[in-house]
Formats: sequence, C-alpha cells, structure tokens
Amino acid sequence: MSERAIGIFDSGVGGLTVLKEIGRQLPGEALVYLGDTARVPYGTKSPATVLRYALEAAAFLVRQQVKMLVVACNTASSVALEELEQRFSLPVVGVIEPGAERAVALTRSRRVGVIGTEGTVKSGAYSRAIQARDPQIAVTSVACPLFVPLAEEGWAGHPVAREIAAEYLASLIDHRVDTLVLGCTHYPLLKPVLHQVLGPAVELVDSAEETARLVATLLDSLHLRRQGPPLPSRYFVTDVPTRFERVGGEFLGAPLAGVEQVMID
Ligand code: DGL
Repeated sequence: MSERAIGIFDSGVGGLTVLKEIGRQLPGEALVYLGDTARVPYGTKSPATVLRYALEAAAFLVRQQVKMLVVACNTASSVALEELEQRFSLPVVGVIEPGAERAVALTRSRRVGVIGTEGTVKSGAYSRAIQARDPQIAVTSVACPLFVPLAEEGWAGHPVAREIAAEYLASLIDHRVDTLVLGCTHYPLLKPVLHQVLGPAVELVDSAEETARLVATLLDSLHLRRQGPPLPSRYFVTDVPTRFERVGGEFLGAPLAGVEQVMID
C-alpha cells in the first residue's frame, strides 16, 4: 500500500503549489496530479457544481489506485471535503484545516485575515475552522479574484499587482490583522507583494506548506510512507495540456512535459 501514489487534485494549475510543497517535504512519494482545466475556475461556481466536479476528480484519482487524496483546491476543500470523506474509503486531506490550525497558532492579537476565491470566502469554511479552535479570534475574509489571473500571467511582481493588492487588503489593514491565511492555490506566488502591502510584521500562512506537513504526519501515523527511490510525478488535465504545461512550468520552477489529457465526467 505504501508504494502507491498520493493523488492531488485542483481546478487547474494552481494546485501545483501544493504538489511542489509535498514533493519538497516528501521526496520519496510518488505523486499523481489532476488539474480540471476544462472546467476551471471553481472559485466563481456554485457549491453544488464544485461538489460535483470534486467528486468526479476524486473518483478519477481513486481509479489510479492512490493511497491518499489531497484536495489542493481551496474552493473544493471548502465545499466538498466532508462528502469526499464519506464517499471514498481512503484518507482525504483538504487545505482548510491545516491553514486554520497554523493561523490560530501564529496570531497574537487574535485578529486573523483570510483571502481566497469568492466561493471559498462565501462558504465561511476558514472562519468556521479558525473559530472552532478559538472562538475569540475575529476573522476578516476578503475575496481576491484578480490574484488568480495575475499569478497565471506571471504578473505577481508587476506594479499593477501591488495596486490591486492595496485595494483588496485595505479592510484587513483597517482590522489590524496580524496573520493572513493565503486561502487559494495561487496566492503563495504573491507573497512578496502581500508583504509589501501589509508590512513585514503580518504573518502569512501558506496553506500549501501546512497541508504538506499534515500529509507527512498522516502518512507516518498510517504507516503509509513510501521508502523506495524517487519516482517522476504524473500529470493529468481535462483540457489540452499546452497552457497547463507552460504556466505549470512557471509555478513549479521546472519544465513540465508529458501531461496527459483525460475525460473525467
Ligand atoms: N484552485 C482555486 C482555489 O484554490 C483557485 C482557482 C479557481 O477558482 O479555480 O480556490
């Protein structure tokens, strides 16, 4: 069982930030990634639609015989995690709980900000997860939809990104948050501009890093950690792979080739 791969899915290319972290923290693991590029974005879609997409993506990875499922997409984690846990008999890890856990550990002022897609923010999943751990924490959540195309266009360091970030983050500055959860797959690419706008004292919680840590802990506790020599990751997408390979290569900081197109619905 431990020889099997970890299955990771996202609406598209963004979940590669999670795959990259898992690969860095767990270099011995085989990884299978599915990006639902034919139906991206999930962040603007209704919970019912995202749930249906997530179930199909998970079923595809389960057919690849994975030993664990990682829902890299914050939007899908916000609305589909419970249902996925109920429907599939393998461990399922989402990005919300690990990010929330870290934010609660880091905040001193008990004022926490959360940024994500419209769907993630509307779901209230991060606020619930944070306040379940500490009801005294005030959570301010802001949807930042333009951050996704900025990251994909390679414009995270462009002056326009700073202007947009200043607009989006104004209410978080007003609320004097001391910790900010990056509740979307793409946002780790924007860390420098977020630091510039919020100031260096605000702690940024990278859900990808925290999720990889949880995956490591779970694999150990379930005796599922793979011991063999490293294997190349496998990548599947639901639309033609051209754009995924180009943008994904930028996200990974390494060339991405051999991506296969599949039907999952
Ligand atoms: N992967 C999505 C998330 O983390 C962002 C892109 C989308 O809207 O599909 O919420």
